[in-house]
Formats: sequence, structure tokens, C-alpha cells
Amino acid sequence: MSKGHKRLEKNIILMSVFIVIAVSLGGLVEILPLIFQDQVRTPSEGIKPYPPLQLAGRDIYVREGCYNCHSQMIRPFRSETERYGPFSVAGESVYDRPFQWGSKRTGPDLARVGGRYSDDWHVIHLINPRDVVPESNMPGYPWLLEATVDGELIQRKLSVLQTLGDPYTDEEIAVAAAAVEGKTEMEALVAYLQGLGLTRSGR
Ligand code: HEC
Repeated sequence: MSKGHKRLEKNIILMSVFIVIAVSLGGLVEILPLIFQDQVRTPSEGIKPYPPLQLAGRDIYVREGCYNCHSQMIRPFRSETERYGPFSVAGESVYDRPFQWGSKRTGPDLARVGGRYSDDWHVIHLINPRDVVPESNMPGYPWLLEATVDGELIQRKLSVLQTLGDPYTDEEIAVAAAAVEGKTEMEALVAYLQGLGLTRSGR
């Protein structure tokens, strides 16, 4: 072992510094190309920023921790595509901040659940999943019926997203609060679920 290396291994602070440098380099090599790669930054055909009500629903999805049991990423395997539809590509989630890909599947993948069930089915299922799927271990979310969406907050979110580069027009932002006026969180979440994956499912 060289002298320098010996010193490095015996000095915990020096060692830590070099570990941080090594890990950071590895991270940069993995992450940086993705930031500049067009393929993962360009929206896939038909992918648009979320309309206000769906955006509100997405926030509720994240707040309630649905991602703890549901992924939104169909892998490129036959067993997956036959069950869920075409596999997911990066261009489908360019407007997802943060993305909801995940790998934890206590329940099924939801990337293309839009249009698979009626709105009524979703409402009953979200209030008490056992009413439609007796063996389900998914929790119920009845309080979503009570709470309403905060229109002003959604409007502000749209304009922040516009600043970040999402192509919302000023007109869309101006009417955003009115668009979700009086809607319950349940309606917002169902609107979000019904929009999932519709653009690329070929259905
Ligand atoms: C503890 C784990 C768990 C959590 C948390 C959870 N789910 Fe589920 N979910 C499941 C399981 C298991 C199923 C399959 C049985 C069923 O349909 O109820 C399921 C099924 C579903 C389905 C039907 C999917 C299909 O293709 O049939 C939807 C839609 C859904 N969940 C939405 C949600 C939403 C929205 C949330 C958050 C508000 C949520 N889930 C939270 C476990 C969970």
C-alpha cells in the first residue's frame, strides 16, 4: 500500500472528504446527463400540464401518501404491459413535480388507470374500498368528501409552475381559481385519477 493511501485510510476526516468527493462525482455522472437530455425533458405527444382541478387532485394524492402503495410506472415487461398497457416513458412525466414513479406496489400500478372505472366507482372505492373490492386492504378516505379545494392556492401554483417553464397561458391562470371553485377534494382526486395515462394508452 502506498504511503499516501495509508495516511488516507488512517485519517477519518480526510477519508470522509474523499468519500464525499467520490460519491458526488458518481452522482453527477448519473444525474447531469438527464438534465440536459432532450428525450427526458420533452413532453411525449399529447402530454399537457395538468388542468387546475387535476393539479389539485395530484396534490391530494401526494398529501395522502397514495404513492406508498401505488407506483405510476409500467415497466417494459410483457407481464406488465399486458396488465397495465404500454410501458411508461420519461416524456410522460415532465409535468410531474415530483414524479410518482415508485416501485412499492401494495396495490396496482396507476399510471394508466384513467378511464378504467367510472367516477362513481372511484368515489365509492375511495370512501371505503371494501364496498367494491371485498378483499382490499386499501384504507378509506371519506374526509375528502368534506374538504373543498383552495382555488387561490391552485392559481398561485399554476403561476409558479409557469415560472418553472410549464406552458400555462396567462388566461388559463386567470381562470384557474374559478375552475375549481366549490369542488371537493374527492372530485379533484377523481379528476386526477381519471386523467392518468389516457394520452398514451391507445384507448
Ligand atoms: C395501504 C396501501 C394503499 C394505500 C395507502 C392506497 N391504496 Fe389504492 N389500492 C391498494 C390495494 C391493495 C388495491 C387493490 C384492491 C382495491 O382495488 O381496493 C388498491 C386499488 C386502488 C385503485 C384501483 C386500481 C385498479 O387498477 O384496479 C385505485 C384507483 C387506487 N387504489 C387509488 C388510491 C388512491 C388515490 C390512494 C390515496 C388516496 C390509494 N389508492 C392509497 C392499496 C393502497
